Amino acid sequence: MALATQDPELHTLMVRERERQRDGVELIPSENYTSPAVLEAMGSILTNKYSEGYPGRRYYGGNEVVDAVERLAQERAKVLFGVPHANVQPYSGSPANLAVYFATCQAGDVIMGQNLPDGGHLTHGWKVSATGTFYKSVPYHVRPDGYIDFDEVWRLAREHRPRLIWCGATAYVREFPFARFAEVTDEVGAYFAADIAHIAGLIAGGVHPSPTPHAHIITTTTHKTLRGPRGAMIMVTERGLAKDPELADKIDRAIFPGLQGGPHDHTTAAIAVALGEAMKPEFGAYAAQIVANARALGQALMERGFTLVTGGTDNHMLLVDLTPDGIGRGVFLQEALDAVGITVNKNTIPGEPSSAFYPSGIRLGTPAATTRGMREPEMVHLAGWMAQVREEIRGFQLPDDREARNRVLREFRAGIVGSQRLKAIREEVRALCRRFPVPGVG
Ligand SMILES: Cc1ncc(COP(=O)(O)O)c(C=O)c1O
Repeated sequence: MALATQDPELHTLMVRERERQRDGVELIPSENYTSPAVLEAMGSILTNKYSEGYPGRRYYGGNEVVDAVERLAQERAKVLFGVPHANVQPYSGSPANLAVYFATCQAGDVIMGQNLPDGGHLTHGWKVSATGTFYKSVPYHVRPDGYIDFDEVWRLAREHRPRLIWCGATAYVREFPFARFAEVTDEVGAYFAADIAHIAGLIAGGVHPSPTPHAHIITTTTHKTLRGPRGAMIMVTERGLAKDPELADKIDRAIFPGLQGGPHDHTTAAIAVALGEAMKPEFGAYAAQIVANARALGQALMERGFTLVTGGTDNHMLLVDLTPDGIGRGVFLQEALDAVGITVNKNTIPGEPSSAFYPSGIRLGTPAATTRGMREPEMVHLAGWMAQVREEIRGFQLPDDREARNRVLREFRAGIVGSQRLKAIREEVRALCRRFPVPGVG
């Protein structure tokens, strides 16, 4: 209420975003809807506090309550992921990953991670990221069939003797082979960091194997499948402490005072709430339904002639290869789906024949749709609409020449706006959304 009267301009934007979230189907795999309890903790008075340091060791007074909040989040993380140490202060996933480098490497050390166009994350050593600038990045790739090229991982690790190896990705649809990475890192003496940002909720819900018995360090965002606020955690495993008894201290010091100042206590509180939710049996059912939905969506898409990287999925995510589809570029399907209220993102595919900005695939995920209660029948509907949208835009090709490309994109966008067929699908999507209210949004 305060916002509506005090700042109508901002309030109007919030209303628009609320409508967008309510009236469209969110299929971006890194997005989700938090519970009203998480939202309440996030939008709370805890944002008023400064608490540099760690519980019991703060640089500011008045932290007795904040200490208890942070300890609660730490304890829940430790129980949920079976680790002896958890740092819940990273502002987000990228700074969490940077802290891992800062704790384990010197500038110039060799590190390995999954190549970005092969599904890895920027912070796993991509050239434009700080992690690819300050460290010597030797990326590994996926094979043409979409699976991690383990022969290459072994070869590169033996040749370059990295200090740190990442396992984890932002666009990978198969189970992560944590045990195999442990073999490699053990042999070459590297730290093994598992970045479970995407799959943390699946691990917590028991539908993806945990890296805890294998990795030394685990990083995760808290806002994807884990369904918490935007934030992150770094955990150190028993194996990590066995390799380096000071690893937990090194991680803590890398976060504060190494990279950050005061923690965001309102976020810490909301992380505690989300972790509490993830400990409940219902969360396991939600996680299982995410995977069931992804499989159902994948199956229905393949029945409609779409090509999936690796031919399916083990997790919450699907990668659609559009090269055999006569569309060629993800941008067309992404924008046309946006017009009908289905949100996806364009993405590179293994051996990407185009560019990272105009890649040849789209990435889909089921966490958000699952949170609002959609199940297999709705996935089949979504696949049907996606096939109809594809028919509507078939024939558009993106020229390499810049001017010609801009002309084609202009014509394409005008075509989308004018399409009666897309308008009709938009109404059908809206009707589906009305049956599945979004928690905290309506
Ligand atoms: C695997 C992985 N790690 C780290 C991150 C970074 O998280 P953030 O966007 O919160 O910095 C992401 C986000 O997409 C991710 O997918």
